[in-house]
Amino acid sequence: MKRVVVTYNMFREGYAELMKKYEVIFPPEGHEIFTYDEVYEMIPEVDALQSMYNFSVDKKLMDHAPKLKIVSNYAVGFDNIDIPYATQKGIQVTNTPDPVTEPTADMAMGLILAVMRRIADCDHRLRIPGALRWGLLDNLGYSLYGKTLGIYGMGRIGQALARRAVAAGMKIIYHNRHRVSEEIESRYGAKYVSLEELLKIADVVSINAPYMPDTRHVINADSIRMMKKTAVLVNTARGPLVDELALAKALKEQVIWGAGLDVYEFGHKISPELLELNNVVLTPHTGTQTFDVRNEMAEFVSRNIINFFEGGPISKVNQI
Ligand code: GLV
Repeated sequence: MKRVVVTYNMFREGYAELMKKYEVIFPPEGHEIFTYDEVYEMIPEVDALQSMYNFSVDKKLMDHAPKLKIVSNYAVGFDNIDIPYATQKGIQVTNTPDPVTEPTADMAMGLILAVMRRIADCDHRLRIPGALRWGLLDNLGYSLYGKTLGIYGMGRIGQALARRAVAAGMKIIYHNRHRVSEEIESRYGAKYVSLEELLKIADVVSINAPYMPDTRHVINADSIRMMKKTAVLVNTARGPLVDELALAKALKEQVIWGAGLDVYEFGHKISPELLELNNVVLTPHTGTQTFDVRNEMAEFVSRNIINFFEGGPISKVNQI
């Protein structure tokens, strides 16, 4: 019987089908995760690994895994996996684009609203006696209606965000490695622009692109300086796309108006400079964190493994 290791003690519901067919090993009760070292110990006897977005699947692990045929990543992003090496070793890598699209776009929209309408800031200060005034000219934010959203990365999540933003009365401009089809552009009235134009024109810049060597620090001190003084930056993709210290400095000096971040350059360690600021809304990488989506993602990673072994469609990241 094939052996599958799941690195996180996830709800079991979404794994029902997988557990019927294979031996599926989860971290023992009371343990949230398998550590890298624990997986390293087990991996020689493992046929399929179901990794989480922050579990590193590197050369060392793959070199210790003679039976490993598939790494089914529980995320759309796969920057935790050495893809070229997996390809070289003939290991299939898959991801979960379908279930993450809508919840991540919800999160981006939520951050846009929370920053522009100062929802989190007001909530925070209302709880502190004397920290908030109720005056008609206090707590002013910016309306979404009529503003321009610049989407960096017009893939599925970028488009799902565009749909929400259009419903809120925003105009859409975007930058992407490749221009999307005319049909998609006209669906959202979206205009393709260079990154520089996007930064200069947009009232809100949303990062929805994957993290790769060439997207590291795509938002840095220079690009932030190109943005409007009233602009808002939102990142629900991966932290290292933004130079976090440069952003914190720009927010502190009010080079831009605000930011909403779900992901951080240094993983779970948020730069202390950001924690001091009230013009940034921070969430702990909860873009897909809903009861529904946790199970949908578990079903999706399971289906990738089952279909890989039994034949059927899988969401391939690499060609082996
Ligand atoms: C979440 O971060 C994902 O990549 O799906």
